[in-house]
Amino acid sequence: MAKKREQWGSRIGFIVAAAGSAIGLGNIWRFPTVTGQNGGGAFVLLYLVLVFLVGIPVLMVELSLGRKAQRNPVGAFKTLAPGTLWKWVGAMGVAAGFIILSFYSVIAGWSVAYIFKFLLGAFTGLSPAGIAQEFNALVTHPVIPLLWHGLFMLLTAGIVVLGVAWGIERWNKILMPMLLVLLIVLVVRSVTLDGAREGVYWLLRPDFSQLSFASVLTALGQVFFSLSLGMGAMITYGSYLGARENIPGSAVYIALADLAVALLAGLVIIPAVFAFGLNPETGPPLIFLTLPAVFQRMPLGGLFGAMFFFLLSIAALTSAISLLEVVVAYFVDELNWSRAVAAPVLGFAIFLLGIPSSLSVGPLAGFKLWGMPILDFKDWFTAVIMLPLGALLTVIFAGWVWGRRRALEAAGGGRPFVLADFWYFLVRWLLPVALAGILFSGLSR
Ligand code: TRP
Repeated sequence: MAKKREQWGSRIGFIVAAAGSAIGLGNIWRFPTVTGQNGGGAFVLLYLVLVFLVGIPVLMVELSLGRKAQRNPVGAFKTLAPGTLWKWVGAMGVAAGFIILSFYSVIAGWSVAYIFKFLLGAFTGLSPAGIAQEFNALVTHPVIPLLWHGLFMLLTAGIVVLGVAWGIERWNKILMPMLLVLLIVLVVRSVTLDGAREGVYWLLRPDFSQLSFASVLTALGQVFFSLSLGMGAMITYGSYLGARENIPGSAVYIALADLAVALLAGLVIIPAVFAFGLNPETGPPLIFLTLPAVFQRMPLGGLFGAMFFFLLSIAALTSAISLLEVVVAYFVDELNWSRAVAAPVLGFAIFLLGIPSSLSVGPLAGFKLWGMPILDFKDWFTAVIMLPLGALLTVIFAGWVWGRRRALEAAGGGRPFVLADFWYFLVRWLLPVALAGILFSGLSR
């Protein structure tokens, strides 16, 4: 007899866990960065529209596929389309989870290291150049970043091994409220700084002359990354849902929580950067270089800095949990491993795969794949190729293979829901075109 499949303990527990997956480095690091590079307010508005038009519909597709099949991504496609090649879409998702987590954890490790740096006053009195030196000393060291990366993977596997309700759900319910409190404290600190107002305006006042076609594709990519779409993370989380769960309603809550945290993170970072006369358009170094320069100049900056990187680490941890769970669910469902073996063994394998990513910032910097250091290559290959391709094939499956009746049945759990026909229209027509667009533009860059 088959073992009974694990399930979420409650609806709210599921929503918090899925929001925990969505809310991560993508919201707190990537969103303010791409907003900074795309001119502020107009990009925020564009992002908002795309969350509703693209993000929520695809999130509903993934959750529905998972709930219907009650399986990991590979098993889900095998169950829904037996004997076809569709299972390889799931396999690509599992592989993407493996690869993404191997570098996500390296960056998360830097964030954990920064908590201690701030607490110990490592940045006190440093100029921006001094801060850059401190950052470089950390990330180029051959051993120390590996210890932080290892610690982070240990925490991730330690929670996943406890199971869906007792591990993932319970820890998300502890960590996510902490994240929210820290975020609100930091928003208040940031917007009350002298000179912060300019930053708030910059974030909220749309200037459409700054938007290009490339901004639309950047915003779409950000929607996918931020909502954990395109690799079956939400298929896996959906597979622990019972038949009566309201998927459209939950998808809206998850997306709104993700959006709110991205906007609040923008309100922490951008006004503070303006208040100290720094540039919000600096790109990826914004978090690890510009922000310490900001904290270092405010009263109690060490404390606020430590709080910020604690928040960033929590956000990364709850996302890393979902990435590992995709891989673990595959080994548990398809290869009959026990969770107690799968979580530590796969967590360790991902740790090993992350070592070259970490070293690629330091000793292995000269080694290039397609002209990029290993970490950048993995980021590009997953975010630009694997995720859009996975999402494209997933919506094609729902819109063209599954068909209208089964898709609506699965999303609504047999009951009608608001805008159901509009949702199915998006899934069948608009989303495949939009996703093919992201994929081709990514490939042709
Ligand atoms: N959504 C997370 C973030 O914003 C990252 C993440 C977790 C993710 N699981 C994913 C991204 C699956 C893509 C696919 O940081």
